[in-house]
Amino acid sequence: MDERFLRVELADGVAVVTIDRQEALNALNSEVIDSLHRVFHALGKEDSLRAVILTGAGKAFVAGADIKEMADFTAAQGRAFSRRGQRVFSEIEAFPRPVIAAVNGFALGGGCELAMACDLRIASEKAKLGQPEVNLGVTPGFGGTQRLARLVGGPAAKRLLFTGELLPADRALQLGLVDEVVPPETLLDRCRELAALIAQKGPVAVSYCKQAVNAGLDMSLERGIAYEAELFAQTFATADQKEGMQAFVDKRPARFAGR
Ligand code: CAA
Repeated sequence: MDERFLRVELADGVAVVTIDRQEALNALNSEVIDSLHRVFHALGKEDSLRAVILTGAGKAFVAGADIKEMADFTAAQGRAFSRRGQRVFSEIEAFPRPVIAAVNGFALGGGCELAMACDLRIASEKAKLGQPEVNLGVTPGFGGTQRLARLVGGPAAKRLLFTGELLPADRALQLGLVDEVVPPETLLDRCRELAALIAQKGPVAVSYCKQAVNAGLDMSLERGIAYEAELFAQTFATADQKEGMQAFVDKRPARFAGR
């Protein structure tokens, strides 16, 4: 599953995907974007997979889309590049298993946008997050204006977008842009711990929870709760529901099969 700029380790139902293009602080060029698509597509076929951790090698998570690749773009090329990145980030957002961003360092521009397409964001104390695109005379192009506003609210998003300010991890935590901040040396262990906790739960239920929250954010409350009732109903057609409830009655841990 490895690619030139992407490493994948799969063990105990958890995949750790590491973007490793350190000479450009893991900047997202077309090749890295296409690799992310291929790797997530392949991971989607792994029956045993329960969660994914996405991180960067070296001092950056991802320092943005590749500025050198974009420098001579025409408007048409800019649109195509934006769509290419957005498509892959939407695939990650809709990936049937939880995806945890282990934000080890700079998560700027496309890097912050990639972290926001994940379900959870655990940051190292060394992380810096922001949308500095205005410094380059462009807007974010990989979903930043939309996901940032949904995550931290309109005013805070506008301030970050207008100023290009880089937030230290503790400030990102206050805003809700990351969920937890940990010392750098414990970052991957903490993410593995969370992934292992999720891996013990009913896989279909976890997947439906993700689907319900994601879809519900684009619905009225009325439609959202109707959608929830449908997913709730469908869990009663799974072996996991039978096992989960029987295990409770038997006072023993559940052994979920994921179907
Ligand atoms: N694209 C291409 N190359 C990049 C890059 C990027 N986004 N970010 C860093 N690099 C390269 C640098 O050019 C440098 O390469 P060379 O050694 O060949 O010159 C190498 O990575 C190391 O970077 P620095 O020497 O700049 O490292 P630093 O520690 O001094 O600074 C930094 C780190 C503050 C993150 C700085 O590199 C920086 O500001 N990077 C750009 C951040 C940015 O503007 N990101 C947004 C990009 S636009 C975007 O993402 C649009 C979108 O939404 C789709």
